[in-house]
Amino acid sequence: MKTNILEYLQNNRNRYISGSSISKELGISRAAVWKQVCSLRRAGYRINARQNCGYRLEEEPDRLNKSHLEERGIKFFQEVDSTNLIARRLAEEGCPSYTTVIAEEQLKGRGRLGRSWFSPAHSGLWFSIVLRPEKISPAAAAPVTLVTAATLANSLHSGHGLPVKIKWPNDLLIKGNKFGGILSEIKGEPDRIEYLVIGVGLNVNKHAAEFPAELKQRSTSLLAASNQVYDRTALFLLLWEDLCRAYALFMKEGFAPFRDRLLAYHSFLGQEVKVTWAGGSLEGLASDLDNDGSLLLMDKKGAMHRIYYGELS
Ligand code: BTN
Repeated sequence: MKTNILEYLQNNRNRYISGSSISKELGISRAAVWKQVCSLRRAGYRINARQNCGYRLEEEPDRLNKSHLEERGIKFFQEVDSTNLIARRLAEEGCPSYTTVIAEEQLKGRGRLGRSWFSPAHSGLWFSIVLRPEKISPAAAAPVTLVTAATLANSLHSGHGLPVKIKWPNDLLIKGNKFGGILSEIKGEPDRIEYLVIGVGLNVNKHAAEFPAELKQRSTSLLAASNQVYDRTALFLLLWEDLCRAYALFMKEGFAPFRDRLLAYHSFLGQEVKVTWAGGSLEGLASDLDNDGSLLLMDKKGAMHRIYYGELS
């Protein structure tokens, strides 16, 4: 019922329609029309009611478009603990490669190094993609995070003119502040991958003031950085299609075709950095990225180190 009224109001956008024509059209009482309008308003729709004119839909809440997503086979959830956890569950049940899970809200969004990931409703993109590479070893699959970062940076730059930079290996930045992150997880044996789950979190339509205090200093969103509101469904579909194409190439040809793209968006190359990982840290000059995506770091004595994973600052 609610959908019917909503569709009717959407089809008559920008004009008032009387309660009696809605009730006649939908075959319900005027009291039922009013009840549904109230319920839509509670869900975030702004509907003007004017005496002798009727109702007019003024503004819709920022919602992911479930049917547009499901038409493409994407699994949409209103609320989940973490899309990576759902994707892993589906992978364990045998779902095919490219199965994609997206949620309006994550209650336990997960970041790298055991951190949590702030994933409120109606303002971001929180999604995970399952891949089942057949010809790649777990070691060769490690750069999938870099492939993801390079593809997202390029799509956002070429599709929307956004000045995105990548902080190796998984942070997406605009003007030095982080708006996106990637969490890749793998299950397999030394020589065989059972599945990969690549989780992506992007802050999209969040105002700077809406970030929790502990994130305000170093976080941003596409809206905060560009002063523009994005249609999140359209943005997601653009990124998802580019990612699926990129993963197909990666599974066929490995990381090499992505190196130049990564270099084009990389920040910190040529700068003094510190890389920290579970067992230690190293300081030096971030000299280059190798063909396998590893960071080449030159220490103060001039010795070159190859680093596969870590946190760069
Ligand atoms: C990071 O920068 O620490 C990585 C953040 C990754 C967040 C995304 S949101 C979708 C997917 N589900 C999760 O629980 N985490 C990833």
